[in-house]
Amino acid sequence: MKNFLIAPSLLSADFARLGEEAQNVLKAGGDVLHLDVMDNHYVPNLTVGPLVCEALRKFGLKAPIDVHLMVRPVDKLIIDFAKAGATYISFHPEASDHVDRSLDLIRSHGCKAGLALNPATTLHALDHIMDKLDMILIMSVNPGFGGQQFIPAVLKKLKKTRELIDEHSSDILLAVDGGIKTDNIGEVAKAGANMFIAGSAIFGQKNYADVIQQMRTELSKI
Ligand code: DX5
Ligand code: ZN
Repeated sequence: MKNFLIAPSLLSADFARLGEEAQNVLKAGGDVLHLDVMDNHYVPNLTVGPLVCEALRKFGLKAPIDVHLMVRPVDKLIIDFAKAGATYISFHPEASDHVDRSLDLIRSHGCKAGLALNPATTLHALDHIMDKLDMILIMSVNPGFGGQQFIPAVLKKLKKTRELIDEHSSDILLAVDGGIKTDNIGEVAKAGANMFIAGSAIFGQKNYADVIQQMRTELSKI
């Protein structure tokens, strides 16, 4: 079986019990914790800053933390989240004046670098920077909120992105974020994704392990 990563998005967790929720979802089989950072400026919602990432580390969580920056500007927060224990940091190209420089900044602070592309952002954003990427995050909803519907046009975009990664013969992770559920994860994997970010589908159920297991069952059919 291929190496698929499931990344529960803490956006749909109970924030009053965040450490415990993160611990439980990892015990239930999650591979990576996805942390959505929103600034009420780049996106119309507001979530958490580096303090919360640091608090999760202090709570004892050792799993990779994937920080998804939906903020503008990005560079200062890249540094702050790297210091706060982030493993992956991704940002949106529209939110940085110097995408290449921001990617360098992520790696130079010891983190893995990702670029997040909105549904209407073209793959040209990837031209000239493939060497600097550890992850491409394809948004399958518009950023800002959990619980939205998967946008089907993204399947074609995922296939094209997979081709680009393979042409480049690299092991860049292809992550998909938004509206991922047990009933579409298989199709999304077939289109080439290998990291699946899911918030409401996991935290919206009582038994996280059951949902994650169902997701893995779907992935095992690929
Ligand atoms: C949306 C966030 C997502 C969100 C996904 O802007 O980037 O990570 O948590 O939530 P679901 O899985 O509920 O669509
Ligand atoms: Zn996200």
